[in-house]
Amino acid sequence: MNGTLIIAIVVLLVLGAVVVFTAARRRETTGVLSRETRAREKQASEKGIVGKAYEREATAARSTELAIPASVAVAPWTPPDPEVIGVSRRQFFNRATFTLMSAGLGGFGAAVIGFLWKGAEGGFGSKITAGKLDDIIAGIRSNKGFLYLPEARAWITEYPKESLAKAEAVYGGQAPVYSGMSSGIVALYQKCPHLGCRVPTCATSQWFECPCHGSQFNRVGEKKGGPAPRGMDRFAVSINNGNVVIDTGAVFGGPAIGTNTTGQEAEGPHCVGGGSH
Ligand code: FES
Repeated sequence: MNGTLIIAIVVLLVLGAVVVFTAARRRETTGVLSRETRAREKQASEKGIVGKAYEREATAARSTELAIPASVAVAPWTPPDPEVIGVSRRQFFNRATFTLMSAGLGGFGAAVIGFLWKGAEGGFGSKITAGKLDDIIAGIRSNKGFLYLPEARAWITEYPKESLAKAEAVYGGQAPVYSGMSSGIVALYQKCPHLGCRVPTCATSQWFECPCHGSQFNRVGEKKGGPAPRGMDRFAVSINNGNVVIDTGAVFGGPAIGTNTTGQEAEGPHCVGGGSH
């Protein structure tokens, strides 16, 4: 307790000494003139200028007149050379936007024209001349039962003549399709009637087998298995001067589930679904 009291007293004494020292220093410095002021006063006193005369002279020395600089010749304005200053950021973005929009619109327009042009010239969506009927059938046979026609997006297969009676009962309502069958061929749209995958052929089973969800169709596109709601869709086929003409402008819906006019069963192992014939 005594130690704490002693420390507190010492601290108070130190603080008191600091306060007294600071006050003394302030008193010493208050009213002391700077060296320059004392020098000016000394000069004035040597010249005999004192009192009011000294103040008047000091006032006169503080002139309030505006300092007017010497006149400067102003050069005439000439517009900057655009080649020299280049392209501003705003100009750059405006031109870039305009260029990109023009390119986009131009590309879109070209695509539309190309699409319409192709349709007019015989691409998908129009009547496509596939070739002589005999050549088509020879092509099917040399390709092991299936002939792909990319411009028609269609598979061409043979339709057996001995099944025509059954076919008439099923496809008779689709006269343009039945017409092709009676000529010995059928043109099947490559798009799966389930969810639209491109349906490939299976060389071993001699069916069409969709890799997406496993739908299966026999060689003339009648459904044999999987989730597809019907057989493969197809196109009208006509013969014009011996040439096979496939009209891809209209798609005929595939036959109902259970249709089996040819009775073709799988001729070997399946390509999808892991099954065997
Ligand atoms: S798209 Fe072919 S089975 Fe689903």
